[in-house]
Amino acid sequence: MSAVPILSSATAPEAPDAQLLRQCALRRAQLARRIADAGGGVALVPTAPERMRNRDADYPYRHDSYFYYLSAFTEPHSLLVLEVERDGSSRSTLLCRPKDAEREIWDGVRFGPEAAREAFGFDAAGSIEEIDALLPRMLLDRGAVWWPFGVHEGLETRLQGWLQAVRAQARAGHHAPTAQQDLCAALDEMRLFKDDYELQVMRRAAEISSEAHRRAMRAAGAAAPQELREYHLEAELLHAFRRGGAQAPAYGSIVAAGANACILHYRAGNALLRRGSLCLIDAGCELDGYASDITRTFPVGGRFSGPQRELYEIVLDSQRAAIEATRAGARFTDPHEAALRVLAQGLLDTGLIARSAAPDVDAVLHTGAYRRFYMHRTSHWLGMDVHDCGEYSEPGEAPRMLPDGARVPAARVLRPGMVLTIEPGLYVRAAADLPEAYHDIGIRIEDDVLVRAQGDCEVLTLQAPKTVADIERVMEG
Ligand code: GLY
Ligand code: MN
Ligand code: MN
Repeated sequence: MSAVPILSSATAPEAPDAQLLRQCALRRAQLARRIADAGGGVALVPTAPERMRNRDADYPYRHDSYFYYLSAFTEPHSLLVLEVERDGSSRSTLLCRPKDAEREIWDGVRFGPEAAREAFGFDAAGSIEEIDALLPRMLLDRGAVWWPFGVHEGLETRLQGWLQAVRAQARAGHHAPTAQQDLCAALDEMRLFKDDYELQVMRRAAEISSEAHRRAMRAAGAAAPQELREYHLEAELLHAFRRGGAQAPAYGSIVAAGANACILHYRAGNALLRRGSLCLIDAGCELDGYASDITRTFPVGGRFSGPQRELYEIVLDSQRAAIEATRAGARFTDPHEAALRVLAQGLLDTGLIARSAAPDVDAVLHTGAYRRFYMHRTSHWLGMDVHDCGEYSEPGEAPRMLPDGARVPAARVLRPGMVLTIEPGLYVRAAADLPEAYHDIGIRIEDDVLVRAQGDCEVLTLQAPKTVADIERVMEG
């Protein structure tokens, strides 16, 4: 092949966002301070591997969240190394795929180390193919090595190999790191608090997902075709995600017709959406590495029946109570407890829980009778991963001891910048002892909320219709 320079614009990968790069540099500096405080060392942050789906067809590639958080780099076969001195000064090195004209014709353009260093602002860069020569040099005479424990298959074994290569130089007076630290613990705590850049992306992801839910509601509204199946609505969601600029769903979309809504991890299947029955959709897009997570439940055809509406209003009231309980200074479990009280009252009022079994709300909660109808938690952290990282117990606070000796961890105190979901539900599987009008009704309502300094929370997913009136209005059109 001749060596004529190629001038096509396809040879230039897209430049990263400047604000994101500034944030990544700040995050690396923050991590470096943490490592310096512990005596200095080297952090190794690999990205995710490419995964084969079947024969030579691979799954769509998704970078590792920790790696992206510190680098903004999305190419596979990459590793970030952060060398940190005791005084907090640090040097970042990206190892990535070298330029390869032949491979780039097949797989797409790559930055290559030099252009990546320049574009992303690393101190140095090298070829990932040199990793076994470079890593022992970077680990030489360092006190500690920090890496994400239990995340990357095979990393521990490779690290042992690099450490052995360092130890082989002992007679020349060099030593290998004597301590290993879990990088996840340090990064999880940082990732739990979203910065302005992250919130900007998460708000947009929430908007796109809200539009996707509106689109699915419209498709299942008054003008819905006779044959409307779960996968038809999944197609509407995917359309809205991509049209809005999101790269992918953040998790497998749930589109559950009727009784399928009572299966918590159901996925969009083939089932027919029967007019007059409920449909539960739990779906959210991933935009620029950040997830959204929304659940809405609506009647196919656009009108709630009496019993559907009755249960729906209970779940909605419980969700309102949970959102009201979500504020800085409250505990992570407070929204759950607020939701539970409303659900428990509703279960008594509808007769789903007999007063003979539990006479009042406290008894419903104490006996756990509600668990037959509500068996999951109300919240989880949300961020780059849909079930995002971050401790659920308050660091440094001792667990509470119960009389039977069980230890109950102190729930995390909510603070500004944390993002979590609020997602109560009720699931009534058909059973002889339950009023028939409620059989096979599954309802969940899920929003994404940001804890704010103002003493309340911002609902990021407000644009997804939620009240009975709003849902029926959207579905009329
Ligand atoms: N979609 C997963 C969840 O709601 O937690
Ligand atoms: Mn969800
Ligand atoms: Mn969720």
